[in-house]
Amino acid sequence: MRKALIAANWKCHGSLKMVDEFANALSHEPGVDVVVFPPAVFLAQYASRASHKADCGAQDIGTAETGARAGEVAGEMVSEVGGKWVILGHSERRSEQQESDALIAEKLAAALRAELRPILCVGETQQQREAGQAMVVVERQLQSALEQAAGSQLATGAIAYEPVWAIGTGLTATPQQAQEMHQGIRSWLYRKGDQTAQSVRIIYGGSVKAENAAALFQQPDIDGALVGGASLQLDTFTRIIGAAG
Ligand code: 13P
Repeated sequence: MRKALIAANWKCHGSLKMVDEFANALSHEPGVDVVVFPPAVFLAQYASRASHKADCGAQDIGTAETGARAGEVAGEMVSEVGGKWVILGHSERRSEQQESDALIAEKLAAALRAELRPILCVGETQQQREAGQAMVVVERQLQSALEQAAGSQLATGAIAYEPVWAIGTGLTATPQQAQEMHQGIRSWLYRKGDQTAQSVRIIYGGSVKAENAAALFQQPDIDGALVGGASLQLDTFTRIIGAAG
């Protein structure tokens, strides 16, 4: 039985006030792991306010350890301030920062060296879906990321299936569409001989709301959610956590 994972990706939103509000209110729930990903500058404050409550993590890290790399955040720094998790390969970084599959693979290796729990994001664009390429694209993203890490190392974290066309658009994948992709991802892990295919959590992201969360979580291979816009309101996010419990 996989434990549900509900994660809040604040992206470039938030404030110290919001950090305090969420850190005080949120905690893991029975059967549900809760993780908040505030912007990196707020991480230390979140971790200190929320100790022994919900986990937190970084939305990205650099590929290397500390050094002369202006603007980068190293995985070990995330760990030092109390972050336990890191999101890698989010589609906004793939498209806006031109992050390649190879770079994301390096970041995954760096995350594992820093003993962070990775959430590896994969997902196709609308055009790729319409061309019938959704699973091919996702398999390529997985294959590349896992070249530098054993699938079993993902078992500490999760895979997030986030179809690009559903992110921030209000267009959620239907529970059936999402289930088909999640099942495809799990079968791919099996075909690769991954012993942890059955235990790795595969969470869904893309316009998850309090209203649609329960139907998604009822699907056998949907183990939780990576929530963007709806994670910015405490009451809404709390209802999504409730739908997974
Ligand atoms: P929305 O929930 O705003 O669609 O964002 C999803 C996402 O990108 C989470 O990482």
